[in-house]
Amino acid sequence: MRLRRALTGALAFGVALLAVPMTVASPVDAIGPVPGCDLGDIMTVPRDYDSWSVTLVDRLLRVEEDYVPPDLVPVTDAGIAGGGYVRRVAIDDLRAMSAAAASDGTPIGVWSPYRSYEEQVQIFDGYANQFGFEDAILYSQRPGHSEHQLGLGIDFMTAGGGSPLPGDWGATPAGRWMATNAWEFGWVLSYPLGEGRSYDWNDAACFHYEPWHYRYLGREIAAEVHGSGLTIREYLWTHFTMVDPTTGLPIPAATPTPSPTPTPSPRVTPSASPSATPSHTPMSPSPAGETPSPVGGWLGLDPRVVVAVVLIGLLVLTPIALAARRGMIRR
Ligand code: DAL
Ligand code: ZN
Repeated sequence: MRLRRALTGALAFGVALLAVPMTVASPVDAIGPVPGCDLGDIMTVPRDYDSWSVTLVDRLLRVEEDYVPPDLVPVTDAGIAGGGYVRRVAIDDLRAMSAAAASDGTPIGVWSPYRSYEEQVQIFDGYANQFGFEDAILYSQRPGHSEHQLGLGIDFMTAGGGSPLPGDWGATPAGRWMATNAWEFGWVLSYPLGEGRSYDWNDAACFHYEPWHYRYLGREIAAEVHGSGLTIREYLWTHFTMVDPTTGLPIPAATPTPSPTPTPSPRVTPSASPSATPSHTPMSPSPAGETPSPVGGWLGLDPRVVVAVVLIGLLVLTPIALAARRGMIRR
């Protein structure tokens, strides 16, 4: 009797184990090689407003025209000089960073924070009309592709100063302070100085050096990006972006979670030149289209499957063994 109860329990446990969905996503450490710097118009994944810290936009990935963060607040809420809006999620760290910069004698201000899709159209078209499309894409992200539209990108300036764009703002006291300290407050330089083909083009960021443009990631991810030595683009592509760059399709069953210790992934030399044509040319093959396989297991099998099979096996074999034993005793 006791044996039957134990066997029934084992069966229930085994079935329950099998009933647990086998597709539970495991942490994804790397989606695949980072694609080149070709232009494209793939909707980035994830891009829901709660995924703000890991939403990537670049020359290939974008958000919709009506992507408007729901929690925009005036930057002045952070007690910083300047105007415009930023997502509320960034305001405390913006305040702390501004106060720290000021107390170190290098006060910073906000030159250009959130921009709507329409504002980015105006800016981009302004460049394009003046210099042509090929030059415009070097100095402005196309509408939908800008971190400014995420409400998380800010062009900083020296407090009380004017536009940071002329000259090398990175060499000013405020620019140097930001380059050294901003990451500790969750802000990372999106387009660092590179070793690209032109004097300041950065192949890893797929953009020119912009010493004034910082992206808010939150302190945790900012520290990971900083520690990894990767650009924001490389880090988010390899750790969080769940879209196949070759097909533009979302990678199914993907709920990636940040890995506690970032593993720098090998850089893939982008194939596109900075002045890539605006067509979306095919990029280097990537395993990004493959569904991430569960990590761990026993001999490649999910441990739950192994336990369930053993329990069900016990259930089937034990009565047979007992019956045989009884038969042998009788004989
Ligand atoms: N200036 C930066 C790259 C933008 O347009 O978003
Ligand atoms: Zn900017």
